[in-house]
Amino acid sequence: MTSSLHRDSLAVHAGRDDLTALGVHALPLDLSSTNPLPDILSGGDSYEAMATGGRPVPEGGAVYARLWNPTVARFETALARLEHTDTAVAFGSGMAAMTAAILAHTTMTGRRHVVAVRPLYGGTDHLLATGLLGTEVSFCDEAQVGDAIRPDTGLIVLETPANPTLDLADIAAVTERAGPVPVLVDNTFATPVLQNPATLGAAMVLHSATKYLGGHGDVVGGVIACAEETAARLRQVRAVTGGLLHPLGGYLLHRGLATLPVRVRAQQATAARLAGWLAGHPAVDRVHYPGLDGDPRGLLGRQMHGTGAMLSVSLRGGFDAAARLTSGTRLFTHAVSLGGVDSLIQHPASLTHRPVAAEARPCAALVRISVGLEHCDDLLQDLEQALAATAGAPVTAATR
Ligand SMILES: Cc1ncc(COP(=O)(O)O)c(C=O)c1O
Repeated sequence: MTSSLHRDSLAVHAGRDDLTALGVHALPLDLSSTNPLPDILSGGDSYEAMATGGRPVPEGGAVYARLWNPTVARFETALARLEHTDTAVAFGSGMAAMTAAILAHTTMTGRRHVVAVRPLYGGTDHLLATGLLGTEVSFCDEAQVGDAIRPDTGLIVLETPANPTLDLADIAAVTERAGPVPVLVDNTFATPVLQNPATLGAAMVLHSATKYLGGHGDVVGGVIACAEETAARLRQVRAVTGGLLHPLGGYLLHRGLATLPVRVRAQQATAARLAGWLAGHPAVDRVHYPGLDGDPRGLLGRQMHGTGAMLSVSLRGGFDAAARLTSGTRLFTHAVSLGGVDSLIQHPASLTHRPVAAEARPCAALVRISVGLEHCDDLLQDLEQALAATAGAPVTAATR
């Protein structure tokens, strides 16, 4: 029924095909930690199928919630439809999803080298830089991907638009340079509404579902959309390491998908107006927003169907101005995270990107803004009054 629908209709209906047969209209929330077994043999068959990354055998059932949960599976089906992949695998956070992707393509394959295109979310950068998962990393820029690949490279990690600079990378160009090496694209900032990396050759599309997919700041989750073969390995890692998405999270994320296209379009319209206004403000040195300084490679339209609702500003007054701006807003909450219905503001160098090596850390003058669903005029006024205060006396060293 949902095969030929537009994205907006898919967002509302995907992953709900079994609801009529179940006799329910809202998404069912199954909180079972374990499931009754019909008999030893069929239960054992189902266990075996799932322990090797497959789906439950119908006669044997779901067995145990670390292996399978129907509420989470419906969310995975819906997200996969929106990302144009066979399937998806959900996790307890974006970082749990990233961990599973790395393990499944390095430790499990014996190719322990990862090529990572900077800039990346600070947590991803940190996970790779520390080698915590037994990997070795080569950080590079987009153009260097081909040269950075080695015979033991198991994975390429890319984020576009990148957190927090909003740099755009050419996904199709990177996947071409990657050859047979799988490319993971973190699509958190763009959402499936604006960009579908799998259609450009990405083997995995990762979301911190905590952000736009949930959209209301009340659930932490991660998900990877991919082909079934890749999903089997990711499910194996999930079952063994236990990085599960709780069913309540699956329910909330699936419900969030229904309004995702409408939210993203509305938030994007406000962000574009704010970006233009900020670019003309005397306290602002530079606004980082896709397309604002031109789009020489034609990525907008070809790759990303919109400019998104995230932006960053570099302030002329440096760190002191950034500190004043982030603590001076009233409507924008000074908090990490992003993608929700309410606007947030934060200082990446001090927070989300604090663990990143000094040479790759965002500059102290940069402030990141996640634009929500408030009225644009109210947000603009709030920034105006907070920016006016950035011209004040310097912040003391102790405040840093
Ligand atoms: C782009 C990006 N990827 C991944 C993550 C990690 O996601 P989570 O916080 O859900 O673990 C974040 C978190 O901010 C992010 O911004």
